[in-house]
Amino acid sequence: MKERIALIGPGRLGQAVGALLQQAGYPITAIVGRDQQRTRDAAQFIGASLMATTDLTRCNRAEVILCCVGDDQLAPLADALVDTLADSLAPTLIHFSGRHRADILRPADPRAAHWRVLSLHPLQTFASGEQGLNSLPGSFCAIEGHDDLFPLGAKLALELGCQPFRLRSEDKERYHAAACMASNFVTTLFHQATTLMAETLEDPAMATTVLAPIFQTAATNTLNLGPHKALTGPIVRGDIDTIRGHLNQLAEHNPERLPFYLELAEQTRQLALESERLAPEQATQLKELLGTFASKS
Ligand SMILES: NC(=O)c1ccc[n+]([C@@H]2O[C@H](COP(=O)([O-])OP(=O)(O)OC[C@H]3O[C@@H](n4cnc5c(N)ncnc54)[C@H](OP(=O)(O)O)[C@@H]3O)[C@@H](O)[C@H]2O)c1
Repeated sequence: MKERIALIGPGRLGQAVGALLQQAGYPITAIVGRDQQRTRDAAQFIGASLMATTDLTRCNRAEVILCCVGDDQLAPLADALVDTLADSLAPTLIHFSGRHRADILRPADPRAAHWRVLSLHPLQTFASGEQGLNSLPGSFCAIEGHDDLFPLGAKLALELGCQPFRLRSEDKERYHAAACMASNFVTTLFHQATTLMAETLEDPAMATTVLAPIFQTAATNTLNLGPHKALTGPIVRGDIDTIRGHLNQLAEHNPERLPFYLELAEQTRQLALESERLAPEQATQLKELLGTFASKS
């Protein structure tokens, strides 16, 4: 059975999800945006141009309402839907935020007490509808909300080409913190490395280019071998003088980068120790060295 779907918020994620479900044969009864022209363009991308509207009440014929607005707009949107869905028997509302629990879609109003709410979070990044459309298949998708709705969430995730898995509501924020570490923080780490590298090159514009292969290999090795085996470099080798050299140079030329380096060096030291590839006495010496610089920074 393919439920009738309304989609609110046809942005980056909404366009990708809408297009994939439309291709899978789900009837789309409304695509609701804030701006008529942007909504029309998005609906055309999804393949349901006649369903474009800025009128929220057009959602009332849908069995499943996909709320694809930004995180901060979810609660106000749910409030705004109370009147629209007053006559609906058991509407199912789904959002896609990694941060919020499903129940952000259930307003305190007693008329919303029977709403069925669910969150689906694809572990993927969407810079545009087009890119999302291509990247979603093969991704994983966390499903959180009432157990009775898990089969529906799993079915929709599979239609998007994603592998569904269940997430407990109380773990949602920590789950999202982990997802941010694996995507956003990796980007920040690379930015730190390229900025420092640029200062050392005759042609600073080459920083990203020269670091790209080593960055890609480190990521691939980490995924293929696991962190304990993939780790290389002076810390796991116990080359303490090399680390001392880094710290002296950073303290002299880039003191603002020292706390970042020291924190990651300490985390790397612990990983190296755990992997049993760094001898405990060298780990202790390294800890003392890092401590000396930490007290100065
Ligand atoms: N992008 C990602 O990488 C990603 C990944 C996983 C999950 N998500 C989740 O997906 C959701 C959407 O994110 P996004 O990146 O797709 O955001 P986005 O590109 O900013 O899209 C949000 C859309 O919602 C529309 N909108 C906002 N308020 C509205 C309202 N009251 N009524 C109707 N339409 C409204 C916006 O219209 P305007 O054009 O008028 O602004 C826009 O089309 C978020 O919960 C986010 O956490 C995103």
